Amino acid sequence: MSKICVIGTGYVGLVTGTCFAELGNQVTCLDTDPARINGLLQGQMPIYEPGLEQLVEQNVQAKRLHFTQDYRSALEGAEYAFIAVGTPSGVDGEADLQYVKAAAESIADIVDFPILVINKSTVPVGTGDWVADVIRRRRGDRSLEFSVVSNPEFLREGSAINDFMSPDRVVLGSEDRKAATRLAELYKPLRCTIMVTDLRTAEMIKYASNAFLATRISFINEIGNMCEDLGADVREVAQGMGLDKRIGPSFLDAGLGWGGSCFPKDVKALEHMAVLHGTQPQLLQAVMEINRNQRRRAVMKLRKALGTLNEKTIGILGISFKPNTDDIRDSAALEIIHLLINEGAHIQAYDPQAMDNASKVLKNVKLCESPYEVADSADALLLATEWNEFKQIDFVKIKQLLRNPVILDGRNLWDSELLKSMGFTYMGIGRAIN
Ligand code: NAD
Ligand code: UGA
Repeated sequence: MSKICVIGTGYVGLVTGTCFAELGNQVTCLDTDPARINGLLQGQMPIYEPGLEQLVEQNVQAKRLHFTQDYRSALEGAEYAFIAVGTPSGVDGEADLQYVKAAAESIADIVDFPILVINKSTVPVGTGDWVADVIRRRRGDRSLEFSVVSNPEFLREGSAINDFMSPDRVVLGSEDRKAATRLAELYKPLRCTIMVTDLRTAEMIKYASNAFLATRISFINEIGNMCEDLGADVREVAQGMGLDKRIGPSFLDAGLGWGGSCFPKDVKALEHMAVLHGTQPQLLQAVMEINRNQRRRAVMKLRKALGTLNEKTIGILGISFKPNTDDIRDSAALEIIHLLINEGAHIQAYDPQAMDNASKVLKNVKLCESPYEVADSADALLLATEWNEFKQIDFVKIKQLLRNPVILDGRNLWDSELLKSMGFTYMGIGRAIN
């Protein structure tokens, strides 16, 4: 049993803290947001993540998991302090490290015993050294025995607990190999490959992994666009490619492009790092441009199908950036909604879990309570997020409700032949339009 403090209770911090508690450790999760902590103390989850609420409850009851806003009590006796705060995009695309700095300074102010400081936030290459400097400078003459380890997180929203508990690998980077080995003890129960590197290599592994996954998606979207013109089907192309073991099947689903709280900001931050150090990141720039274009293409398809978007009503199914999360950061739906509104369209939208978050940012959109309300009197329906709930909706009812039976299936979720036979004008992604 180890004593752990996790700083930040977002998608990464809360899952990390809860899973370490589940493994038998004593964990205190800390956040500076009073609403988050007060909610957690009353058993309310600040995010939607399948299975999380139950796991939190179990570990709180077992008195292994605690929540606080108070750094002093959170860090008391902690052997490990995980920094899992946000690192959003700054004005030039760089990662904004203000929250990481604040967390490091709080550790420096309070701790008076040997501690491992672990960067779980996604941070630019070199940040581990910088965090160590921040702590040293803040301490001044008051010496502190500490090491910094980079421990990037690879979990996905929507399957975060399983991803944390059964990772493909754990990466630990530090100049202090003993510290990395100590941290490896915490992960031992997961029985996965633990890779120990230097600090900067670990930091780069995280960015390179996200950028590579985004590249695969942009690649298949570009191939999909060619399929549309050339009469091929991108789903079968992806399947045929994926059967090659050197390629593999994952992350080859053509759609509306990648979104979320990480790919967009991390690819941008990696581009920024490259430019800052004199490299021309041509591939990354193309990957981002293809992604922007994927949203524009969806709007173009709707415009073409309806003649104009001005004064047309478009129904949007799904607002979150992917299914099984309430996270709408950089979601394809949000970007497409903005483009459609700019062309004079009216929007009505529904999402199974993201309505609260959507209501905070979508001011000129009718937020609906069901897919059927979305379809009601709409000129076209766009599927933006492939939630299970949309897989078997009642298309007879949808057709009766729509003003025009036009469907853009942005995630290739539905049976195109069936919908065409029912009289819909069906458009998918990466498939010949007729
Ligand atoms: P988030 O925005 O959901 O949560 C961050 C939390 O940190 C917030 O609750 C905020 O109040 C808190 N916070 C900010 N400053 C603080 C401080 N000084 N002290 C204590 N708490 C503070 O963020 P997230 O999605 O969990 O991401 C966290 C980091 O992990 C980011 O760097 C992200 O790139 C990375 N990451 C995220 C995911 C993901 O799926 N979301 C996966 C892997 C890595
Ligand atoms: C992604 C990575 O998969 C995680 O390994 C990483 O830890 C995380 O970012 C992070 O650093 O935050 P996540 O953003 O939760 O996880 O979701 P993904 O499943 O990767 O999907 C990202 C986006 O790509 C979504 O918008 C999704 O719709 C899109 N996508 C994904 C596709 O368009 N096609 C695919 O084949 C796969």
